[in-house]
Amino acid sequence: MKRVLFSLIAVLGLFAFAQKDVTVTWIVGNRPQDTEYGLKVGQQYSAMNPHTIGGEQYNVTVNVVAGPESATDRAQQYLQYFEAKSAEVDLFQIDVIWPGDMAENLVDLYQYEGFKEAAADYFPAIVENNTVNGALVGIPWFTDAGLLYYRQDLLDEYGLSAPATWADLEAAAAAIQEGERAKGNADFWGYVWQGNSYEGLTCDALEWIASSNGGTIVSPDKVITINNENAIAALNMAKGWVGTISPDGVIGFQEEDARNIWQAGNAAFMRNWPYAYGLGNGEESAVAGKFAVSALPSVEGGKSAATLGGWQLAVSKYSANPAVAADFALFATNEETQLQTALEMSLLPTRPAVYGLDGLTSSPNAFMSEFLPVFQAAVARPSTATAPNYLQASQLFFSAVNAVLKGDMDAADAVAELELDLADLTGYEIGAPQ
Ligand code: GLC
Repeated sequence: MKRVLFSLIAVLGLFAFAQKDVTVTWIVGNRPQDTEYGLKVGQQYSAMNPHTIGGEQYNVTVNVVAGPESATDRAQQYLQYFEAKSAEVDLFQIDVIWPGDMAENLVDLYQYEGFKEAAADYFPAIVENNTVNGALVGIPWFTDAGLLYYRQDLLDEYGLSAPATWADLEAAAAAIQEGERAKGNADFWGYVWQGNSYEGLTCDALEWIASSNGGTIVSPDKVITINNENAIAALNMAKGWVGTISPDGVIGFQEEDARNIWQAGNAAFMRNWPYAYGLGNGEESAVAGKFAVSALPSVEGGKSAATLGGWQLAVSKYSANPAVAADFALFATNEETQLQTALEMSLLPTRPAVYGLDGLTSSPNAFMSEFLPVFQAAVARPSTATAPNYLQASQLFFSAVNAVLKGDMDAADAVAELELDLADLTGYEIGAPQ
């Protein structure tokens, strides 16, 4: 008996010794439910403990923290962690525009089990975006693209159709705004979007400019193209919205400010990302079932442009458990989890296969499958072209655009100055958009 007990204790001891307890700390987004959802995925992974990773056994707990809401502030926070070589955070949710600027602080995921095989299952363009000097520095968590949200009920009521051009949008927004105000809703606005001086404005303004045949600020082949007539016209167009079809406060709006007005039923149109779709149809929304989405407008004869957004999971070089964090990232982005993320969080999958799953095509978020061509044609910000200086390039761009929106600067002067600032920053040639 004694001997049996003794060996039992020995075996248990060995077992305990063989399984390492590890906590992975993950910085997630800061939109509604991001933390709760991150914890849920973490618990789903923990429910499968122990995990065998690199021949060792681990019992993993996932700890979730939320970073700043604005992508611009978030980048600064991450850079502080990196600067300090901090092991506090293992797994970072990084923006699609950051791989080039942050690569030196991130591990190459290809060194861990499963990534080489899995890479082919994600959109190739995002994998390419996340590959810096051959290293995979982020696994795509969700993708994003700008969309036009419109109130179908109001378009019907006013006998209008979804706008294809910016001029159509301006006319429809003005007509509905006038009508709704005449009915007594003084808080009603035609169009809400993101005009604050931050990364989100780079996204909105790139859409105005690219859809006006004004290029992409800096072209993929590294030519600074921002100083052109079409870009100037696009900025003047947006400036014209401030205080007319859009509130004066729009020059301080981020995504959530626009969504709050929209979801209270106080806007005819909104520019936003797909996350707002699920929330808009949620229980607390005044517009549930009353809206639809379309590609954003363009100028007459132009091509609609949706800025490519999205977030990756990246493992810090300073993490004490990079292999474990990487294994969790692979789980969080597998097909099953991505379907769940699409359904519960209204975030776009980064695996093309998920768009064809019945679970998605027959769900309330079926728009994702329908708009796949729009997402695939999304326009990238010049992050690869300007790396590792994208964060600064974007700061120059959105500050200039915000100054134009505020009326502090003339659009032509702003892009002329910006062109020189970008040339100083990057050393690139100046030229016309292709
Ligand atoms: C969204 C996009 C991201 C972008 C940000 C700007 O989160 O996914 O790419 O930088 O919005 O606010």
